[in-house]
Amino acid sequence: MTRRGPVFAPDDNAAAPARARPTARHKGGVSETAPHDSALRHVDGGAKYIDDMSEPAGCLHLALVTSEWAHARITGIDTAKALALDGVATVIAAGDIPGENDMAPVMPGEPLLPPEVAEYVGHPVAAVAAADFETARQAAKLVEVHGEPLQPVLDLDDAIAREHYLLAPIVFQRGDPGPALSEAPRRLQGGTRVGCQDHFYLETQVALAVPQEDDEMVVYSGTQHPTEVQHIVAHLLAVPHAAVQVEVRRMGGAFGGKESQASLVAGLAAVAAAKTGRPVKLRLDRDSDMLVTGKRHAFKLDWDVGFDDDGRILAVDMQLAGQCGWSVDLSPGVLSRALSHADNAYYYPHVRLTGLFCKTNTQSNTAFRGFGGPQGMLAAEAMLDAIARSLGKDPLEVRRLNLYAAPDRLLTPYHQTVEHFRIPEMIDQLVASSDYARRRAEIDRFNAGNDVIKRGLALAPVKFGISFNKPEMNQAGALVNVYTDGSVALNHGGTEMGQGVFVKVAQVVAEVFGIDLTAVRATATTTAKVPNTSPTAASSGSDLNGMAAKQAAETIRERMRAVAAEQLEADARAVTFAGNQAVAGNKTIGFGELAQACHQARVSLSSTGYYRTPKIHFDRETNRGRPFYYYAHGVAVSEVAIDTLTGEWKPLRTDILHDVGSSLNPGVDRGQIEGGFIQGLGWLTMEECVWDAEGRLLTHAPSTYKIPTARDVPRDLRIELLQNAPNEEATAFRSKAVGEPPLMLANSVWLALRDAVHACGPGGRAAALDAPATPEKILRAVEAMRP
Ligand code: MTE
Ligand code: MOS
Repeated sequence: MTRRGPVFAPDDNAAAPARARPTARHKGGVSETAPHDSALRHVDGGAKYIDDMSEPAGCLHLALVTSEWAHARITGIDTAKALALDGVATVIAAGDIPGENDMAPVMPGEPLLPPEVAEYVGHPVAAVAAADFETARQAAKLVEVHGEPLQPVLDLDDAIAREHYLLAPIVFQRGDPGPALSEAPRRLQGGTRVGCQDHFYLETQVALAVPQEDDEMVVYSGTQHPTEVQHIVAHLLAVPHAAVQVEVRRMGGAFGGKESQASLVAGLAAVAAAKTGRPVKLRLDRDSDMLVTGKRHAFKLDWDVGFDDDGRILAVDMQLAGQCGWSVDLSPGVLSRALSHADNAYYYPHVRLTGLFCKTNTQSNTAFRGFGGPQGMLAAEAMLDAIARSLGKDPLEVRRLNLYAAPDRLLTPYHQTVEHFRIPEMIDQLVASSDYARRRAEIDRFNAGNDVIKRGLALAPVKFGISFNKPEMNQAGALVNVYTDGSVALNHGGTEMGQGVFVKVAQVVAEVFGIDLTAVRATATTTAKVPNTSPTAASSGSDLNGMAAKQAAETIRERMRAVAAEQLEADARAVTFAGNQAVAGNKTIGFGELAQACHQARVSLSSTGYYRTPKIHFDRETNRGRPFYYYAHGVAVSEVAIDTLTGEWKPLRTDILHDVGSSLNPGVDRGQIEGGFIQGLGWLTMEECVWDAEGRLLTHAPSTYKIPTARDVPRDLRIELLQNAPNEEATAFRSKAVGEPPLMLANSVWLALRDAVHACGPGGRAAALDAPATPEKILRAVEAMRP
């Protein structure tokens, strides 16, 4: 597996440095489908995850002691029986944290271990460290937690009714929806709901904390945000940031679930390591992971919409109530993104969007692919569907009518002007290539003649804003080292979770140097090499880190260019880098040889790079600005069939047209589109989190929680990348982010299910089908739709 030896043979070029050689193109530069850097290792088991690392001598294992109550005052923790067990080293609780007991990512007040109050069933209140995991687990069961139950608030409706909020509501407003609503020729009030979703990354949450000399700690953490783990560990232990180093080579999936929530696992391991002076590992088993960690926010989405007789929207007043769980966590960002996507691709002349931070005594809901955007967008799509049904029109017609359009229908509810809007052309293209009109007519005929099986068809557009809503997060750093054999080590702030950020950024560097991708090695992400990073999130990983790495590589290349000019006796401006060499006229020097020459000439071959996204700004007081540098676009058409006697359904066909700008790696991008779409399909149709009346999560294993598998992929799935559509100038080779937007293409499946349900009745109103549209819900919606 390991590739040894210099990448460029020492005698490469040496024989005839100035000999003309063909300037073949290097392999694996941008726009090529290079395999994921770990593709083979993922398959043959060679890819090392944190749990695969050889454990340091004396390593302890942690197991969690979790609350049995949804809400309780903790009056005492009795550890005697646990400590008496052979192999148990210690038990940690709130009192064992030497520094500040807080792991909050945004607003302070989220203790690592609660000193007083347990807030949900599954809330870790203590942890046991033992010589092996089984002993730790056994001992955790022997820890007695005493408490006085308090009144919990367990579901979203209860929280809304009691106005049980974590924070004051946020409001996006433009124009004056009140009068516009009352004057509108037509008006509809309605809503829908969407449930939580577990991240179900294949690798559960994990950390290994290894004490070093003095107060220093190295933490291997399965985190999308090494810098935040570094900061949180530092203040838990009351040591400077510089004393803590956080490293992650890869995660086995993250999907947002390891953005803030990895801090709990890393923090507990670090506190136990500091207390015992021994390495400590914590890896959650699947049930604990699901019981302890937060999920995608469930939402109750309600609208009041005014429109004209054609279905053109005049005013919208929408309430988006998000279930945050017990703590604030990343909810401000999630709610803000939900609101900023509640327009999706549609112009609302007058609009008010209100986001509610509902507190429930359940897991702390958090980032999940789309970060609130999918829930906001679903509200828009359900509302458009309801408008169309009330008018007896094909929803596609009403969607088209309401799209953002020049010159004066381009302003979003957050006052950003939509630019380079590609949806109208993309809809035209996909309507044609998917044969929408013919299939629409055919499906209507089929439904008229069939009582048991009904088919449904729907088109859904996706417009997704790219950039973190918080402008200050849109920056990145990189470190590039060229060695004297011409091989390159690349480090940046991006973390690899399967999405391919390592290979994409490496392609950018290979392109800048004009060398083969195999010459560029991505190294584990570590706070010691690139500091003060943002999380790899908001789909911006390759955008931000690609640009930072590009800048670092360009800095080195320009230094190398000067040396190359001397070597080739040419003007520096005439030197180009391609085909693994520097070229001037008919003279060339191999990249490896040039690196050696630079070293001889005492020219540095190492550089940092830095990037910040231009043009963006956002005022969090007024909720106005330009939070997004650009938009990613997609359109999907899905066809489904439902069985009206059982509620079962099948995805028959999905056509997708997606906009990735000028793709850095079409193969990886296609993978993201497929994976995102299927993950969205799972969210909207089968993944269901269920709690009992005491607040216990009942769906905490794959036996009770259904994620989509290969069998759930539409049997006919056609994916096209939008061609000849470069992105804004200041992006990595004019590429677009792709990580999250495709998830929302699955809205088309949910809308197609509603279309099939709609066919069971006389029409005139939308199907009463919430998400996830499980067979039970489909059956109930069919019953409700029947005449
Ligand atoms: N793809 C895989 N295979 N695994 C993941 O965990 N996370 C998604 C998306 N695609 C994820 C994934 C999420 S939530 C985000 S924000 C982006 O990848 C992050 O990576 P990027 O910014 O490099 O696209
Ligand atoms: Mo992705 S939800 O932004 O980690």
